[in-house]
Amino acid sequence: MKALKATTSTWVILALVLCTVQNGDTAPSATGGKPKVILVSMDGFRHDYLQLAENTPNFDRMLREGVTMPWIRNTFTTLTFPCHFTMVTGLYEESHGIISNNMYNEEMDNRYFRMSTTDDEWWTGHETIWTSAQKAGLKAGVYFWVGSASEIQGTRPEKWFRYDGSVPFEDRVDTLVKWMSEDDFDLGLLYFNEPDHTGHLHGPKGNETLHEVERMDGILGRLLDKLNQTDLLDKVNLIVTSDHGMAEVDSDKKTIDLRDYVNDTLIRKVVQQGAIAHLIPQEGKTQELVDALKDVEHMRVFVKEDMPERFHYKNHRRIQPVVLVADEGWGISQNATYRRLNIPRFLGDHGYDNILNSMRPIFAARGPAFKQNAIVESIDTVDIYPLICHILNIDPAPNNGSLERAAALLRVPPKPHDHPSSPTRCISDFSTKPDACSSTLAILFVISSLMKWNAVY
Ligand SMILES: *[C@@H]1O[C@H](CO)[C@@H](O)[C@H](O)[C@H]1NC(C)=O
Ligand SMILES: *[C@@H]1O[C@H](CO)[C@@H](O)[C@H](O)[C@H]1NC(C)=O
Ligand SMILES: *[C@@H]1O[C@H](CO)[C@@H](O)[C@H](O)[C@H]1NC(C)=O
Ligand SMILES: *[C@@H]1O[C@H](CO)[C@@H](O)[C@H](O)[C@H]1NC(C)=O
Ligand SMILES: *[C@@H]1O[C@H](CO)[C@@H](O)[C@H](O)[C@H]1NC(C)=O
Ligand SMILES: [Zn+2]
Repeated sequence: MKALKATTSTWVILALVLCTVQNGDTAPSATGGKPKVILVSMDGFRHDYLQLAENTPNFDRMLREGVTMPWIRNTFTTLTFPCHFTMVTGLYEESHGIISNNMYNEEMDNRYFRMSTTDDEWWTGHETIWTSAQKAGLKAGVYFWVGSASEIQGTRPEKWFRYDGSVPFEDRVDTLVKWMSEDDFDLGLLYFNEPDHTGHLHGPKGNETLHEVERMDGILGRLLDKLNQTDLLDKVNLIVTSDHGMAEVDSDKKTIDLRDYVNDTLIRKVVQQGAIAHLIPQEGKTQELVDALKDVEHMRVFVKEDMPERFHYKNHRRIQPVVLVADEGWGISQNATYRRLNIPRFLGDHGYDNILNSMRPIFAARGPAFKQNAIVESIDTVDIYPLICHILNIDPAPNNGSLERAAALLRVPPKPHDHPSSPTRCISDFSTKPDACSSTLAILFVISSLMKWNAVY
């Protein structure tokens, strides 16, 4: 990045010169033909699993032929439901409202939300990528994704299934490729519940987990092969990513038992427990509850209003008044005795602070829209939604992502006026000439990608 800073002013001057001979559009279209996107999530695929596992030829090939980054920055809390819904809405968890895997809302008909809950009322109000695509007249199919079995804004994906973790991964791949080829879908989403499941049981460094990573590499290979067989490999923009990483824990040894410090006189309900906990205090007991917990080792206690800004995790009614965040490796339990008796020991978990290295997921992309053999700076999972909207050439709903950040992945950078809400500021002299300003920035983008200055960590 040093080189970049040193030469930026040169580029600006060059761009200003070029600007005078350039008018109108500067970016050529990214692909011939209709753009297609496949978004794949392999649950709990930690960003460094490819380094830890031995044999991952298909991922290796995908990285060579596409673009990657050290990790993608996911949102807090690093749990499956919130993180997956962020990817398809571009919204922070407090804005899309799926703030945990377990939720409670007194005012709803079905007060409890569990991972199997599909009641539409928990999901309403937030446009997903498949909704945006279908609104624009495109065809979208979803082979399992958080939210896809519910009606959101009155629509469902054209193809969807109620979640069934036992469906063989091969079948999911084959069906999705059929949608993309025979049915000519524009957008496909595909979810796999591994390596998360094995990672929980055996921990992120466990042999079984790393074998599972190798199995998932084989599933990626099958997807690439099927796309090749259907002549789609070089037409589809394929994104493979995940919701969160996995930390080493020991559920038998590193557990904080809330019963050691508080009881029902202070807590009305424990809605979520584990790496994070959501507590509803008894009426008027919030401060007393916080005081009783504030010196407990291996965790942090927040009243909802004081959650750190960087979490973007306070402005939603389903976030309960007191939130506990365990230190990496620890778990919070309402009754650790009960847990030991009823849940087998496990060695991996997630849900922790999203700044932890262990919580960070993988990201790789390949296809006509993406750079080849490039490593770019990390983007955020909220950027995936505006990125896909851009590739599909559809209008994004309001979101928290930045196409400008995601542009680092693209072979042909977006024109600045493609994303008017971006924080880009024009050079002051140009503020009265927006067209010239757009051209200048577009040329800057082109030059910068020609010079490959973004191929750094
Ligand atoms: C993992 O496999 C290696 C080599 O096969 C073996 O030495 C090691 O003990 C195994 N570790 C675990 C935790 O099973
Ligand atoms: C695609 O399939 C053809 C044969 O159908 C094969 O020759 C080619 O190597 C495959 N390409 C890739 C990238 O797998
Ligand atoms: C709950 O805590 C209060 C205050 O520490 C204590 O007086 C009471 O006996 C406790 N109740 C139970 C059921 O442990
Ligand atoms: C915790 O769970 C154990 C085992 O189910 C049960 O015997 C005990 O009563 C529970 N403790 C409290 C305080 O609820
Ligand atoms: C995220 O986006 C939503 C929808 O535009 C907006 O209401 C919210 O204020 C944004 N959050 C932040 C932190 O900018
Ligand atoms: Zn997950």
